[in-house]
Amino acid sequence: MTTKTKGRIFSGMRPSGRLHLGNLLGALENWVALQDDYECVYCIVDVHALTTLTDGHEAREIAASVNEIALDWLAAGLDPERSIIFVQSHVPEVMTLHTLLSMVTPLGWLMRVPTFKDRVRQMDETEESVSYGLVGYPVLQTADIILYKADTVPVGADQVAHLEIAREIVRRFNNMFGPTFAEPRAKLTETPLVIGLDGHNKMSKSMDNHIELAATPEETAARLKTAFTDPQRLRRTDPGRPDVCNIYSLHKFFNPDDLKTVYDECTTATRGCVDCKAHLADGINKSLGPLRERRQDLAAHPERLKEILADGAQKASAIAKETILEVRERLGISIP
Ligand code: TRP
Ligand code: SF4
Repeated sequence: MTTKTKGRIFSGMRPSGRLHLGNLLGALENWVALQDDYECVYCIVDVHALTTLTDGHEAREIAASVNEIALDWLAAGLDPERSIIFVQSHVPEVMTLHTLLSMVTPLGWLMRVPTFKDRVRQMDETEESVSYGLVGYPVLQTADIILYKADTVPVGADQVAHLEIAREIVRRFNNMFGPTFAEPRAKLTETPLVIGLDGHNKMSKSMDNHIELAATPEETAARLKTAFTDPQRLRRTDPGRPDVCNIYSLHKFFNPDDLKTVYDECTTATRGCVDCKAHLADGINKSLGPLRERRQDLAAHPERLKEILADGAQKASAIAKETILEVRERLGISIP
């Protein structure tokens, strides 16, 4: 990793299948760009994925997801030559640090995190019945960040509460044992809200309103055919309202040069929604073409992918081992 002036980035994504357009526009493109200015550590957080486990089958799906997300990352331009790209569980030191940090983390902090309460509700569980691991989710996330001595964490607004806990844990640790870690800062980037094909929810896999990055051109066109448009445009001869149409908002990303045409033709009813969607499919397919090609190429060489992740784990491990030694010394549990 070359020395870059702006500091060290850490960010993670839970493996839950293939990534979609929303992930690309909302996070991944930003992560790719950050590689120019920062030392970047990007982690597929498979242990975090286990915090909401309900059965053994699901656990085995996580491994397949790890591969899919790694393919998406590399195809999108995360660069193993410049950044550390690895799988969380491949560097088990994070679990050691998680345990040690859990000793300085008041339970009340964790129980109050809004994302914890949301998760409990989503899972149809109670605060008593969810796993101990889920309560400790932000502690594990803190361990991720500080194990690699990162100071900057690009995340969405939904992660701000976790970053606040990370800062508090670091403050507490430093107060108790002496200055060891920098307080990590959340880096909130202006990312567009990408609405899904249902026309009103954020694009997400769980809502099944998404288009996968890895979709074929035909799948892309077929998915778009099912998408909602302006709900008040019932007949082809009705003028449409691009400003409330989800297809129009996707044109902004994938057909930026044609926006005015789309707008004018829609509002004058000279363009129908079927054609408009085909036009969007072309834009998406053209713009994702190179990514999809790189992805297919990598998918055809699983040994290459394995090697890249092993190399990332090795680089991550070197940093992690040093941090753990330092932490053990601070705590007075140094290796004899
Ligand atoms: N909790 C994050 C999410 O759900 C994923 C994550 C795990 C993460 N560890 C992290 C993000 C460390 C940033 C830094 O999106
Ligand atoms: Fe939306 Fe395009 Fe139909 Fe207008 S023509 S309502 S922008 S899909």
